[in-house]
Amino acid sequence: MTDKGINVIAIDGPAGSGKSTVAKDVARKLGYLYIDTGAMYRALTLKALKENVDIHNEDSLTELSGNLDIKLETKNGFLKVYLDGENVTDDIRTLSVSQNVKFIARVKGVRQKMVNLQRALARNSAGSVMEGRDIGTVVFPDAKYKFYLDASSEERVNRRYKEFESKGIKVSRADIEKDVRERDHTDRTRDVAPLKKSEAAICIDTTSMTVEDVVAEVLSRIK
Ligand code: CDP
Repeated sequence: MTDKGINVIAIDGPAGSGKSTVAKDVARKLGYLYIDTGAMYRALTLKALKENVDIHNEDSLTELSGNLDIKLETKNGFLKVYLDGENVTDDIRTLSVSQNVKFIARVKGVRQKMVNLQRALARNSAGSVMEGRDIGTVVFPDAKYKFYLDASSEERVNRRYKEFESKGIKVSRADIEKDVRERDHTDRTRDVAPLKKSEAAICIDTTSMTVEDVVAEVLSRIK
């Protein structure tokens, strides 16, 4: 089945590039569904950790992804994530989930399941903004609008650090730096669906831009 003509805005980029905030706001302004695919990989990671599934066993992880019950719900600009009916919005953002998600995201069987879920979500909506690492390259290579957000690694670590700080979570800057660096590396070099800019994607360097600037830039390209 071809997905040409499906109304999807694809936004890809590395950790801390501003994807989530921007994608959420663009979706709100257009009245589109916001789909955070990273939250889906994070939810599966949480499930694997909770159920003591060996995160190095690809078959077990693929099996686990087969009966996933994940719901994404955006209200008043906030995303809520439900796993098996339980609100896991905060639990999926811990450093422990961040550090383990790479073992889940590299498994081919898991990615196939996730991509199917993501395509179904978009097909069932009138329009969606989907953000992740492989949206413009794998999930919707025919998306009409594709964006690739990036920023200097220093600025991306800063943003992540401030995010934890604003939630009152104590983490060291060094740990965040290590997490971002490691995820950057594994996301870019894994065999299946690595993070890379799709040829047709519009690249925006957000290092010294405000969120409002980036949202305005994205919207100006769409209209
Ligand atoms: O918010 P942050 O940029 O830290 O990451 P995220 O979007 O929540 O994604 C967490 C992790 O999930 C990434 O580092 C990737 O390993 C994985 N992921 C992926 O492989 N493919 C996607 N489409 C989205 C996320």
